[in-house]
Amino acid sequence: MVLVYSVATILLTIIVCSIADDAYPSPYSYTACDLDGGGGSLSPTRREVYDNGRIIDISHRYHPDMPSWLSDDGLGQFLRLPASMKNGSRSNVSEMKLVTHTGTHVDAPGHMIDEYFDAGFDVDTLDLHVLNGPALVVDVPRDSNITADVMKSLNIPKGVMRVLFRTLNTDRRLMWQKQFDTSYVGFLKDGAQWLKDNTDIKLVGIDYLSVAAFVDSVATHRVFFKSRDIILVEGLKLDNADTGIYNVHCLPLRLFGAEGSPIRCILIK
Ligand SMILES: *[C@@H]1O[C@H](CO)[C@@H](O)[C@H](O)[C@H]1NC(C)=O
Ligand SMILES: *[C@@H]1O[C@H](CO)[C@@H](O)[C@H](O)[C@H]1NC(C)=O
Ligand SMILES: *[C@@H]1O[C@H](CO)[C@@H](O)[C@H](O)[C@H]1NC(C)=O
Repeated sequence: MVLVYSVATILLTIIVCSIADDAYPSPYSYTACDLDGGGGSLSPTRREVYDNGRIIDISHRYHPDMPSWLSDDGLGQFLRLPASMKNGSRSNVSEMKLVTHTGTHVDAPGHMIDEYFDAGFDVDTLDLHVLNGPALVVDVPRDSNITADVMKSLNIPKGVMRVLFRTLNTDRRLMWQKQFDTSYVGFLKDGAQWLKDNTDIKLVGIDYLSVAAFVDSVATHRVFFKSRDIILVEGLKLDNADTGIYNVHCLPLRLFGAEGSPIRCILIK
């Protein structure tokens, strides 16, 4: 009886886990089903979409193998358990140590303009109206970084305030690769300037760790930050979002004094 039961349980686990894998393929070495040791029924569901696809999670899961700026080895261990029930504590309590520009995150103007940092333009001062509302997901031509010409070719109508740019970075699955890749696609300075001068865009989202191409990093960021009314969200997961109009909701942590913060972003159809 016990044997029959456990064979059935194992079979069921295998079936459930393979279904879960197909629905939500995991780029990491483990799957949701492995996390509890593989055999048990006590296993959480990890989702990329909710409510039959109406809500799309466009934030990346924080994980030691996710890419980190200039690192060959990824983010690495960022969580520890200073208090653990296995060690006799009353509860498990984790602590995290994380560069604020890790994974899906937001930049505040103080990030690359020192005067703004000193004046207090931190993530706590970012306008939640810019971070929440109707947004356009657009595909960027795959053969170029985002220049003025590319921006022009996208024909983004006046009045559009929030745009998430899906690029070659998504096709190359760069955010799923441990090793930081400097060849990612981003804005060049003239692309940023064109956006500023010719559109009403205030929220700029992109699918790798920086909105600015590696070769033009500081100059491009400074163009965006200068007027302090454009918000940059970086490291978005746009793999499972089609182009089109959504409502975006992005909420940074209220980190007083910080020029960056992890951010949770979702799209709602
Ligand atoms: C438990 O305590 C030991 C010794 O202090 C430590 O090395 C270990 O990391 C702790 N384990 C956890 C899960 O916190
Ligand atoms: C954390 O808490 C659970 C009980 O909720 C306990 O079973 C588990 O061993 C704890 N984990 C660690 C690493 O102490
Ligand atoms: C974008 O710029 C990077 C350098 O920052 C370069 O390595 C890459 O090839 C460029 N990508 C495209 C598609 O032109």
